[in-house]
Parts: sequence; C-alpha cells; structure tokens
Amino acid sequence: MLMLSSQGRVLGASDESAAGAKNPRAEDVPLRERAGHYIGLLKGIVPWLTTQQAESVRSLPSGVVVRERLHLRRTAWGSCLTVVDHHEWVHAVDPQTARLAALGFMIAGVCHEVTNPLTSLHSIVQILRADKSPSRELLDKGLDNIAVNVKRILDISRRLVTFARVGDEPRERFAVDEAVTEALYVLRHEGLLEHVELRRRTDDAALVVGNIGQTREIFLNLLVNAVQAMQGRGTLEVETRRTGAQVEVRVGDSGPGVSEAIRKRIFEPFFTTKGAGQGTGIGLAISKEIALDHGGTIELQAPADAEPGTGAVFCVRLPQAPA
Ligand SMILES: Nc1ncnc2c1ncn2[C@@H]1O[C@H](COP(=O)(O)OP(=O)(O)OP(=O)(O)O)[C@@H](O)[C@H]1O
Ligand SMILES: [Mg+2]
Repeated sequence: MLMLSSQGRVLGASDESAAGAKNPRAEDVPLRERAGHYIGLLKGIVPWLTTQQAESVRSLPSGVVVRERLHLRRTAWGSCLTVVDHHEWVHAVDPQTARLAALGFMIAGVCHEVTNPLTSLHSIVQILRADKSPSRELLDKGLDNIAVNVKRILDISRRLVTFARVGDEPRERFAVDEAVTEALYVLRHEGLLEHVELRRRTDDAALVVGNIGQTREIFLNLLVNAVQAMQGRGTLEVETRRTGAQVEVRVGDSGPGVSEAIRKRIFEPFFTTKGAGQGTGIGLAISKEIALDHGGTIELQAPADAEPGTGAVFCVRLPQAPA
C-alpha cells in the first residue's frame, strides 16, 4: 500500500502482502521505487487524487511478468493506493470476486477479439455505402461477411456471459452423466454425431454437487472440440467412473491429438488453432474455470497416458457428492 500526498509525493509504503507475508516476491524492487510506474497508469485531471481502479502489467527484474490491480482511494491527507498482485488476489479473495477479477483481465483479450470482426463490419459497410448501385454478387459477399462477423461477436458475448455467471447459479446434487447426456443431446441435435461412433460408459452412482447447466457446458466444449478435431468422423469415447472421492469423466477422440507446442497453451483464453469464424479459443478456458469453481480439475492427458491410437483425451475430475 502506498500513501500519497495531495502533491503526489510518496508519504509511506508498506510491502505487506494480502496474505500477511512480507515481500511476496523476493526478487521485486521495493514498492516505494515502483510508485512512479503506478502513478503513471492513473487517470484524471489530478490522477493521484482521483478515486479509481486500474491495472498494471510489468516485468520483474527476473523477467517474470506480473499483473496487478490498483485501487486508489482519496483520504483526508491525499490518497491511498493499494496494489494487489493478481496471483494473490485470485488466491486470497472469495471465489466470486476472484472470478470477476479474472474476467476483468480477460476484457483486454475480448476487446482485441471483438475489434477484428467489428473492423471488418465497418469496412464492409463503407464499401457497400460507397457503391451506389452494388451488384448482386457484391451484396451477397457483403452480407455473408457481415453474417460471419456478427456470429463471431455473438458467440464471444454469449460464452462470456456463461463465464461471468460461474458460481452464481443454483447448485444441486445430480448424476454427472445427466450433464454428459444433455451435452450429447445437443451435439446429436446439431447433426454433429452423424458420422461418429460413440462409445460410452456411464456410472449412475457418480454424483456431484454443482450447477448442471454449467457442468454440461464443460462437456459440450470438450465434445465439440473432439468432433471438430476428427473433422466430423471418427470414434468418440466418453467414460464416467468413480475414483476414490472423485468422479472422473474422460472424453477421448480419434483425431490427430495435440502437439507438444500447442499442449501448453490450450487452456489460455483466446488461444485457438481454428480459422476465423470457427473457433474463438475460449471453450477450454471457460471449461477450466467452471471445473475449478466446482472444486475440480480438467486436464489433457499426456500422450504416454493415452491409449495407443487415440487422439486427445481430456479428463474432468469433480468431487463426489457427500453420501
Ligand atoms: N480434442 C482435441 N484435439 C485436438 N486439439 C484440440 C482438442 N481440443 C482442443 N484442441 C486445441 O485447443 C485449442 C483451444 O480449444 P478451445 O476449445 O479453447 O477453443 P476453440 O475450440 O479453438 O474455440 P471455441 O471453443 O471458443 O469455439 C483448439 O483450437 C485446438 O487447437
Ligand atoms: Mg472449443
């Protein structure tokens, strides 16, 4: 926490971390010496006297990139600037606040993702406007392009709403296979399973506590990815079982699998290898968030763990509902 005078001078600095530990990142420069960097990020006519929240991204001397949230509050003598390390923030505050914080950090990515289709829409509208009597062909092309870009934006916003709601939704006790069945129903309804051989092993006694709609979203994302990876044709294996205190659902496909380079990045928001209009790269990021919120995990199994001949195998683990 930094205490600033009404002239923007540093009156005091406390390196206390949110968890109470001194100097949370040993290699970091002292907070007082970072004050100029933070003040430079503030907005307003007199920035250090304007109550606000801001975000900072900076590199430690070691090269590690740190994201921080800044909260500035006016006080009688000047202001008080609290700097919260994103990592600590996520671990020290309640899950709902942490999720909203994560959502805040995603906004930058969202803006980037939404700007591309919006720029295309803007250009198409300009082109169509400039042409006083556009040909049928030009109109059709323009409309197709508009439809693709609008769909892309809608897709992003629809799924982000799901992400923002994680944790807010009512929780109940249900068999995890109900969520899997609902997700498979959606795929079947959309004709995605027409050329897919589905092998399924269920476990009616695999009960969890959570939100069935959001849990379905996890399986929907995994199943759609699997079918996309197999280009609509192949074998899909969905197996549910209980392992000790957990419930495990494995989704395996006969697609090409995931290369070592891509493996590290697949859970990053907006990481996608799919073409424009085909994938936004948020399916796995959202799924991971939902799984964590349910006290579970989701992972891509290492090739060595996977059965020979299989493509990718994702494993979702959720705590078993208490008896
Ligand atoms: N079963 C799979 N087989 C091979 N690669 C996969 C599989 N599942 C995910 N991936 C890889 O992980 C990337 C990220 O997946 P994710 O679901 O987050 O985004 P997406 O499918 O590209 O877009 P979105 O889900 O937002 O429509 C994919 O682009 C793909 O490269
Ligand atoms: Mg996906």
